[in-house]
Amino acid sequence: ITLEVQADDSGRPIPSTLFGIFFEEINHAGAGGLWAELINNRGFEAGGQNTPSNIDPWYQKGDSNNVILSTERTSLFKRNPIALRISTLCGSASNPCPAGGVGVINPGYWGIDVRAGKFYTVTFWLRSDTSVNLTVKFISEDEQRTLAQQALTVDKVKSNSWAKYSFRLAATDTDHHGKLAFTTAVQGSIWLDQVSAFPEETYKGHGFRTELAKMLEDLKPAFIRFPGGCYVEGERLENAWRWRDTVGPWQERPGHMGDVWNYWSDDGLGYFEFLQLAEDLAAAPVWVFNNGISHQYSVNPQLIQPWVKDVLDGIEFARGPNTSQWGAVRASMGHPDPFPLKHIAIGNEDCWKPWYRENYMAFYNAIKAAYPDIKLISNCDATNGPLNHPADYYDFHVYTSASNLYAMAHEFDQKSRADGPKVFVSEYAVTGGDAGTGSLLAAVAEGAFMIGLEINSDVVEMASYAPLFVHTNDRRWMPDAIVLDSWQQYGTPSYWVQQLFKYSSGATLLPFSILSSWASNPVVSVLRRHDKDLNADFLVVKAVNFGNVVVPLQITFSGLAANDILYTNSTIATLTSAGTMDENSFAQPKKIAPQISPVAAPKTNSNLQVVLPAHSIVALDL
Ligand code: AHR
Repeated sequence: ITLEVQADDSGRPIPSTLFGIFFEEINHAGAGGLWAELINNRGFEAGGQNTPSNIDPWYQKGDSNNVILSTERTSLFKRNPIALRISTLCGSASNPCPAGGVGVINPGYWGIDVRAGKFYTVTFWLRSDTSVNLTVKFISEDEQRTLAQQALTVDKVKSNSWAKYSFRLAATDTDHHGKLAFTTAVQGSIWLDQVSAFPEETYKGHGFRTELAKMLEDLKPAFIRFPGGCYVEGERLENAWRWRDTVGPWQERPGHMGDVWNYWSDDGLGYFEFLQLAEDLAAAPVWVFNNGISHQYSVNPQLIQPWVKDVLDGIEFARGPNTSQWGAVRASMGHPDPFPLKHIAIGNEDCWKPWYRENYMAFYNAIKAAYPDIKLISNCDATNGPLNHPADYYDFHVYTSASNLYAMAHEFDQKSRADGPKVFVSEYAVTGGDAGTGSLLAAVAEGAFMIGLEINSDVVEMASYAPLFVHTNDRRWMPDAIVLDSWQQYGTPSYWVQQLFKYSSGATLLPFSILSSWASNPVVSVLRRHDKDLNADFLVVKAVNFGNVVVPLQITFSGLAANDILYTNSTIATLTSAGTMDENSFAQPKKIAPQISPVAAPKTNSNLQVVLPAHSIVALDL
């Protein structure tokens, strides 16, 4: 098979927005994942705001003859009223407490990663009805070792007088599945609330787990769509994600039960933090808001105006001057300058739900009137005909088998080029039997689909794989791009395919032709990318071989100028494996990852021979 590349100045620009990422709070992607908070259910609200409330996963240290835990609506914070009361019964001369004291323990999200030599910031609010000695410590999973500790003498704090404590814990021992313990051996009651622990080192100092955020950075995402997905909708409206409840001081946020994926979020990772993450990744923020529609209920259009006002306030929070009402709240959180919010989706997967179009128009008209530059995304699919409402983009979601997604490399070839909304493929992946928990086969098919998106990027302007993260202890949706637990992570083959497309957004698509007598040709794209640091252009050739035989590929280049040099520091990256269902794992995190080798010596206007292994994706950077 011969690939003839026209490597001159012709070609079509690819939108700078093409490939981004989609973060959803699913699979404990944020809580216990990207968001580095170590304490699970830090405000004791996860069991609900009535007493007695379930404080899981906190548990009692000591038997009930010595200590009793109870929940009370006595918090300092109005919107999260539950506080924990620890009543210590032992500690008198006649009934001393057992060695190590009694108290309460939090195991984090399936363990707290504590590492010797690292520092942690622990913060909590406390009140007490007596003077008390308290020990705050990280302990090992088996509770036999102390990993870090701080002794406190609480003598000033009296009933009804909450005080904030915040200090640095230095770890002297390691356990990736540690726990945080509060213990005492003094009789009396203490009340505890809003207990937080963070590793001192987070990505850009903004609270994100460093290694996970770096994996996102390595994708060079053009945008980040957030915070869901179904998570935005909620099964019931009262459990939907509402931006307003996720901003301001973390200890005052009420948190909420994400009832689609069925776990509590303290909303420490809130609207501000998503905007901050976008800035830190140099990605454009794409906010998906709840449009008054949940899985089970739709707000009547006659009642939608407060929802519209809420969204306008949310945009003001992101973009308003710091003298505006909501811009001032953003400034108080440490970001006086506006965030460049220019893409907003009106709901998620709601097109066919009651009142979608009516409510959509109320949001659309109000947002466009106030912010004409904001691009709005409809949930209605315009693949087979024009929409009955205005939109800048329409959402397209696809989860399917490997062969279907492979064939969908041509999905947008015939799409009308007439004026109309552009396509935002905001969720796609191979799922089901072909995918397992992240197979080579799935990744190769996704690579072909993405090449199809590049080729059709005159109509498809944005695309993001889904979902992004999964915690191994909460696999609600499989597969995912990045697998994590309390202390480690790896990319699935799908993640590595995303990396192979990191140069696409903003590059130039070049013309090429394939000369072949084969029945099934590889799926190919050729781009020219500009490297600002080197002030040089590179050719990027990607090819997917979805078949089970090796394909020899000869590449010829025409149109190169005399001083164009191919192959200097050039590389070929090959992603393949012996078995199509092979996967990565914590034990073998890079079993399937691009193998990168140099490509031949410098030559001009020459041919290049490469081999496409069966079931592979190959990316040349020349
Ligand atoms: O990505 C997982 C889910 O798939 C998203 O929440 C939803 O938008 C889609 O149905």
